[in-house]
Amino acid sequence: MQQLRTRAEVRAAVAEARQNGSRIALVPTMGFLHEGHLSLIDRARTLADCVVISVFVNPLQFGPTDDLERYPRALGRDAELASARGADLLFAPSVTEMYPDGEPRVSVVPGPEAERLCGVSRPGHFRGVLTIVAKLFGIVQPDAAVFGQKDAQQAALIRRMVRDLDMPVQVEIAPTVREPDGLALSSRNVYLSPDERDRALALVGGLNRCQALFAAGETDPEVLRAALRHALNAPGVEAEYAEVVDSARFAPLQRVVSGTVCAVAARLGTTRLIDNLVLGS
Ligand code: PAJ
Repeated sequence: MQQLRTRAEVRAAVAEARQNGSRIALVPTMGFLHEGHLSLIDRARTLADCVVISVFVNPLQFGPTDDLERYPRALGRDAELASARGADLLFAPSVTEMYPDGEPRVSVVPGPEAERLCGVSRPGHFRGVLTIVAKLFGIVQPDAAVFGQKDAQQAALIRRMVRDLDMPVQVEIAPTVREPDGLALSSRNVYLSPDERDRALALVGGLNRCQALFAAGETDPEVLRAALRHALNAPGVEAEYAEVVDSARFAPLQRVVSGTVCAVAARLGTTRLIDNLVLGS
């Protein structure tokens, strides 16, 4: 696996792969890779001959009180894991390489669905996400890009960007990878104390309860929302949102159907976790 630091190096390496007839797939990440990220490499390998993984902690998507400074980083380990999993190129640029003039004056403004759920507590977050993803698409020019269902709202907004701006990229969404007890893998899980790690199971507990209610015939979103709130109403868990929404616009709905998304966010101490589940999946 080749490790690249600059946009010019990536363009050259991708151009060479393309000349050899390769299809290119991109897996954007912020690093501190875990099995969830690595599953995206697996999916990318089914879509293309040359898999590019990017590792970049994007300052533009962090708010002033977010964890930008303390976000976990381990590039050497990331490179080993990505290489062992079959990535061909790892692009790990510096902040000045990506934003040579500081904050970009042009950015991608998401639709109103970015203001719901995570957008409420993280204003500007999805603008930062879409802007970096658009830049990565511009640099790598991938045929396909793979994202995780774990960040369902992000994935839906990226799909929408690609559609509305006619970006020639096939967007694939891979399922959430979980610990054996159900906790969704996240780079932020390393922040959790053992006690918080236990309490964090409230998120997946509430989601599983919704899946069970739906399987038993419940179609009232209020009943499901109440079940989510009930699960998050536990000591040491500070609920941020518990929503039952449609999968494209993340808007509230009258009646729950197969494909409806249940989504939760909560703080455990200083760590913010999110999770979601697609009903009927
Ligand atoms: P990051 O949080 O590092 O996640 C990178 C990709 O891995 C995202 O598509 C995310 O949805 C996926 N992912 C994370 N945890 C997962 C899990 N448990 N199972 C499956 N996939 C999982 O999301 C970002 O970075 C950034 O916002 C980024 C898109 C890279 C833009 O900066």
